[in-house]
Amino acid sequence: MLPKINFTETEAYKYLADHFIDINKKGIKDFFAEDADRFSKFSVFFEDILLDYSKNRISDETVALLMQLARECKLDEAIEAMYAGDKINETEDRSVLHIALRNLSKTPILVDGKDVMPEVNAVLAKMEKFSNAIISGEWKGYTGKPITDVVNIGIGGSDLGPVMVTEALKHYKNHLNIHFVSNIDGTHIAETLSELNAETTLFLVASKTFTTQETMTNAHSARSWFLENGGKEDDIAKHFAALSTNAKDVSAFGIDTENMFEFWDWVGGRYSLWSAIGLSISLSIGFDNFKQLLAGAHATDNHFKTAEFESNIPVILGLLGVWYINFYNAETQVILPYDQYMHRFAAYFQQGDMESNGKHVDRNGNEVDYETGPIIWGEPGTNGQHAFYQLIHQGTRIIPADFIAPAQSLNPLGDHHPILLSNFFAQTEALMNGKTEEEVIEELKKDGKSEEEIKTIAPFKVFEGNRPTNSILLKKITPYTLGSLVAMYEHKIFVQGVIWNIFSFDQWGVELGKQLAKKILPELKGNEKVSSHDSSTNGLINQYKAWR
Ligand code: F6P
Repeated sequence: MLPKINFTETEAYKYLADHFIDINKKGIKDFFAEDADRFSKFSVFFEDILLDYSKNRISDETVALLMQLARECKLDEAIEAMYAGDKINETEDRSVLHIALRNLSKTPILVDGKDVMPEVNAVLAKMEKFSNAIISGEWKGYTGKPITDVVNIGIGGSDLGPVMVTEALKHYKNHLNIHFVSNIDGTHIAETLSELNAETTLFLVASKTFTTQETMTNAHSARSWFLENGGKEDDIAKHFAALSTNAKDVSAFGIDTENMFEFWDWVGGRYSLWSAIGLSISLSIGFDNFKQLLAGAHATDNHFKTAEFESNIPVILGLLGVWYINFYNAETQVILPYDQYMHRFAAYFQQGDMESNGKHVDRNGNEVDYETGPIIWGEPGTNGQHAFYQLIHQGTRIIPADFIAPAQSLNPLGDHHPILLSNFFAQTEALMNGKTEEEVIEELKKDGKSEEEIKTIAPFKVFEGNRPTNSILLKKITPYTLGSLVAMYEHKIFVQGVIWNIFSFDQWGVELGKQLAKKILPELKGNEKVSSHDSSTNGLINQYKAWR
């Protein structure tokens, strides 16, 4: 079980609150001026990944106190509990074992006394065989043609992870065209199917529960399209596979359980890309690359479990987040990959983080009186620079930013990559240093502006700086390094959940809207006026009915 400690009642928290008053007066650039070793002190290498966290509003004392906080909150016991297969997802009575999905060592991992690794490895072997058959063309569609297009139908964790990874690793992809349909809006599946040929299309129905309204509706539409476009009931086995924990409903849908790739209730949806849910990834880049993704994540899992907190990347990232959220009142955190392939990375962790730590009740069942999960957002650089960086530089909020970039481009074209990286480095420097009034005045003088002009314009050109950033530099984006990076962020979320004393692995907050939608759906069918809701909801429903 996880410890149940209110972190605001720890000694470390009290020290941090006092320490915050002192350190808040200081600028990050002052720390650099005082300490020539700051970069080496506040940066850590993990294999081909460098985390530089020196451009943060922290001193040696801050880091020591944050580490003390983690120790007082018994983070070590929490990590131990997760890896041991304890049912740390207490509200759903489940273990949390995405680490088992990428446990490439031979060590057993027990759930209720049973080693889960043989089952995990059996599904991996089945995924390998299936992927090879589809990619090689040995698997034929109902008219004897090889598969050319794969459509993953899923939503949330059964979509975002595979989308993010297949995009991030597009450079490694084979000839198969991979499509993703998630939205219940018929436009999504209609537009996707309009390009496809039933003879050469494979559908992966990806749903942990196999009951999700959007996915099942889209799956049924795909099935109808297949039957209307030449396929017969008997051909479904060649064109539909299921990625699920629910064998009963998979069979009821008409998918041969031979074509079912199983996973288990101890895999959370938003942590499931490593499971059978990753079949679209394995089809896109080949099973060997998928295994490399798992290997990278496994390496991070070992790092997270064994490294001292002081050099443990997920622990450092998690505690820095706590520092800004609970002491600086930062409401959001921005993730900025300087890599076009990683354009869905922030969207992926929007679910990963916000569905995990968007909680207001602690592990004792009490309302919290402190902030928990931040709002996660972001876009790739340099696009974001021309859109929202203005607010990060000169807005009224503190927005801790993670900059991520590969040192080696997968598409080295002229000066593109040095230009990209020069922007990465420049932004983190600018956010830290800002621009003082004196510097602005000096610049304006050089431009030949008059005293009067300078006085009017100078205030708008001042950047206060002192805006915190982490820089994550990877040697190169490979399946392995991406796996490591994703696992780092996953464990960071866990660290924060432990400190905030919340349950990170349930998601009851998404249920209410689902229940109400089920109640409203039949009301949308007839022509009679609806009056069972508040006047706003009644008004909207009735107007919809008038206009449809
Ligand atoms: O609505 C939230 C959620 O339960 C997510 O946690 C999950 O990733 C998603 O729906 C999809 O669920 P499933 O894989 O069961 O279709």
